Amino acid sequence: MNTKMDFTLITGASGGIGAALAREFASRQHPLILVARRQAEMEDLAAELRQSHGIEVVVMPCDLSQPRQVDNLLAGLSRQGLAVDILVNNAGFSAAGEYLHTKAQWQEEMLAVNLAALNRLTRALLPHMVRRGRGGVINLASTGSFVAGPNNALYCASKAFVLSFTEALHHELKGSGVTASALCPGATDTGFAARAGLQDTPIFRGPLLTSQQVARAGLRAFLGKKSKVVVGLGNRLLVLLLRLTPRQMATAISGRLTRHEVFRNQGSIMRHRGGV
Ligand SMILES: NC(=O)c1ccc[n+]([C@@H]2O[C@H](COP(=O)([O-])OP(=O)(O)OC[C@H]3O[C@@H](n4cnc5c(N)ncnc54)[C@H](OP(=O)(O)O)[C@@H]3O)[C@@H](O)[C@H]2O)c1
Repeated sequence: MNTKMDFTLITGASGGIGAALAREFASRQHPLILVARRQAEMEDLAAELRQSHGIEVVVMPCDLSQPRQVDNLLAGLSRQGLAVDILVNNAGFSAAGEYLHTKAQWQEEMLAVNLAALNRLTRALLPHMVRRGRGGVINLASTGSFVAGPNNALYCASKAFVLSFTEALHHELKGSGVTASALCPGATDTGFAARAGLQDTPIFRGPLLTSQQVARAGLRAFLGKKSKVVVGLGNRLLVLLLRLTPRQMATAISGRLTRHEVFRNQGSIMRHRGGV
């Protein structure tokens, strides 16, 4: 294994935006470390990228909701001498539905992936970047970072955390040569909505971004050392509108965008998904 080169580590690289980001970085000749649970999907992507770009790609399966597996991932990196100069904290999901009708275990796993693993990886890998004076972190936030989200309350709160944390980190890192950048897509055509049970909600019935659009905008913002980017003109207008709207009204609008018939009945989302 080459110990001299620095890798771009992408979490949630088994599909959707993470796989699109992997393709964008690969087209710029970045050696990659792909992290997610679905190993077969990552091996297929790795083979495609090795062949089309001649780069080194390492696949490291990991369930980021399990702190011990995150520790093992970090131990594996140092055991194999793999230095990371760009970290993309992309893995994330939504356990959508009314707060009290969403299974506690999903909520905890979501916070573990969207927040705890993101922080653990950032805290562990950032010092190397700062010592080298280059590289940085891209964190997947959302247009949901800008507004409270009834029917998606914890998810939007988790993405508000990601945006706030990343903007603050970007500020702290000024002058170090290292960047932190928050990538904020709106509704995007990936497996996300179906996994969350959001596919029939107004927000996902409207025009959707493609993973490639999101990945390209994210990479451009990161290379341009921007603290954040909202992807798509419509989404930038939406965020502007939400900022100008009184907060309670913005919350109500946001709730309408993710309203699902199923969410409005008692125990709805859990029955919908065969939960308890
Ligand atoms: N799609 C949208 O509309 C949208 C909008 C705004 C923000 N985002 C954000 O964009 C990011 C990527 O989402 P996406 O749209 O590409 O969704 P996706 O197609 O569902 O992909 C999610 C990725 O996260 C990984 N992941 C989920 N749980 C994991 C776990 N416990 N351990 C390791 N990896 C895990 C999945 O891999 P495995 O299943 O193989 O583990 C998958 O690769 C997320 O942070 C999401 O919140 C998405």
